[in-house]
Formats: sequence, structure tokens, C-alpha cells
Amino acid sequence: MKKIITALSALLIATTPLLSQATPDDDLKAFRSYFAKKFPNVPLNDFINGVYAVDPASREQWEAFEEFPSYEIYVDKGEEEFNKKFANGKSLADCFPNYKKGIRQNYPYFDTETGKVVTLEGAINKCRTDNGEKPYKWKKGKLAWVSAYLAYLSRGNKLNIKVPDDERAMAAYNRGKKHFYAKRGQLNMACADCHYYYSGSRIRADILSPALGHPTGFPVYRNKWAGKSKSGDGMGTLHRRYGGCNKQVRAKPFKAQSDEYRALEYFHTYMSNGLEVNGPSQRK
Ligand code: HEC
Repeated sequence: MKKIITALSALLIATTPLLSQATPDDDLKAFRSYFAKKFPNVPLNDFINGVYAVDPASREQWEAFEEFPSYEIYVDKGEEEFNKKFANGKSLADCFPNYKKGIRQNYPYFDTETGKVVTLEGAINKCRTDNGEKPYKWKKGKLAWVSAYLAYLSRGNKLNIKVPDDERAMAAYNRGKKHFYAKRGQLNMACADCHYYYSGSRIRADILSPALGHPTGFPVYRNKWAGKSKSGDGMGTLHRRYGGCNKQVRAKPFKAQSDEYRALEYFHTYMSNGLEVNGPSQRK
């Protein structure tokens, strides 16, 4: 299996613009056309549904779940948190003037003042600390609820990530791209092995989802995460998922909101530009 993967990856990497002179836009076109060829029966915007876009067998059950979704109460809780007054009388709502129109599609973005990639979760916690409040925990709980509420209000808006003409922005983008294609962990596998080259194939009990459309549905409610939580709260952020996927190949995960994961999210989300936000979503 490993030999096949290595041979295949070498072959495909040779035909994929990897850390070459390719612009983000070239990368996006290649990424998208790869999946369009691999899954000719899946309409572009259906990739927002993760594995259910390519696995008709599990789709029906998932659609039934989505009719009475488990994340709904967390969207409500997120709304409550969002409007709750800080000690200084302000609230998260004051930091996000356009939230009603939906803002999720613009994150992550590159802040040319600080030279950093800003994720939605990062912006939420910055708003709290700027107002003298403690930051939320990074991977689940209130931060995931607020993020779910903001994603919910952004449903249907198309991802619109920009890489400005700035060396530091390109560096962050390329760092994320490198993470995506680099082999890691004891199993020596890249994100790209599972979610690009082998997407649609089965690995143990799972079918591997295409990376195209991955970020649109986050945060997600996972039954698996609910099972691990005393209160049954199954919500988690994209970086929580990144950590889980790094661990699957027995690599040490990076910290949620580390430079590494923010760069990965930047590249990963850019690759889904033009697809509709549909978060939060329900997952196994
Ligand atoms: C050994 C294979 C493997 C590797 C390597 C791997 N993943 Fe995954 N990943 C999975 C499986 C299995 C799932 C659950 C089924 C699915 O949705 O694909 C999953 C799910 C996900 C999801 C959730 C998709 C959704 O719609 O809910 C995201 C996002 C994700 N992976 C990102 C990554 C990223 C980024 C990397 C690299 C850091 C990575 N994965 C590496 C196996 C892998």
C-alpha cells in the first residue's frame, strides 16, 4: 500500500504545481479541475457536503440527520454568547458590524498591518481580549458555538479568500500549501494523500472526503466528539479536526491557532474559493 502511495504521489506531484512559480489562482484552477475530473458526476457546489458528496451510500442517513441537526442548539447558544455584554458594556457584536450579512466567507484573511493570517476564531477571541475579557478555549465549546452562529448567518455566501500582493501573505499561503502536501507522522502520509489522491477511496470504515469544499461546513458537530464530551457537546473547530487528522498518521498535532494551522487554513480555504458556506454541519 505504502509503495503504491509513494509511486502515485510522485507521479501526481510531478503534474501538480507544487511550490513552483504557480500563483494561488493557478493552484486553485488545478485543484478544482483535478476533482472535477476525478468525480465527474459531482456538481461543483456539492463538494461543500464533504464525504457525502462522493458517498451516496451514507448520504441518505446524513440528510435525515441534517433535518433535525444536533448543532442547532449550539447555534442558539452561539447567538446568546455573541450578544452577551462584556464587563465594559460592549459585546462581540460590536466587533463584527457586518455579521448579519454574513462574514464567514472572508476568513481567513491576511492582515497586512500585523503580517498575520486572521481566522474567524482568532478574530472572535481578539475581540474578547481587546475588551478585557478572557479568551475562549480554542477548539470547542463557546468559541465553536459563536463560530457556528456566524457561519449559519453566512450560509449561501461564497468563500472569497484573498492573497494580497505581499511577500508575507505569499509566504503564509506557501507554508499552508507545503503542510498540505508534506508527508508526516509514523505513517508518512500527507493531507493530500488522503484527501486529494485517495479521496473517494475507503480507509478502514471511512470513505475519504475530497479536500475541495472541506472548510465550508465548519465548525461541525461530530457524533464522535459528542461521545467524548460530558455534556454531549459535539461541536469543534476546523483546527480541532486538523489536530485529529495529524494524529491519525501518528504525527504530533500543532496547537489550534498556531501559525502552522492558520497557514494551512489559509491555503485550504483558498482552494475552496467560490464554494458556498454551509456551516455548521453534522458529521459522524
Ligand atoms: C490517513 C488518512 C488521513 C490523513 C493523512 C488526513 N486525514 Fe483528514 N480525514 C481522514 C478521515 C478518515 C476523515 C473522516 C472522513 C472524511 O470526512 O474524509 C477525515 C476528515 C477530515 C476533515 C473533515 C471533513 C468534513 O467534511 O467533515 C478535514 C477538514 C480533514 N480531514 C482535513 C485534513 C487535513 C488538513 C489533513 C492534513 C493535516 C488531513 N486531513 C490528513 C483521514 C485523513
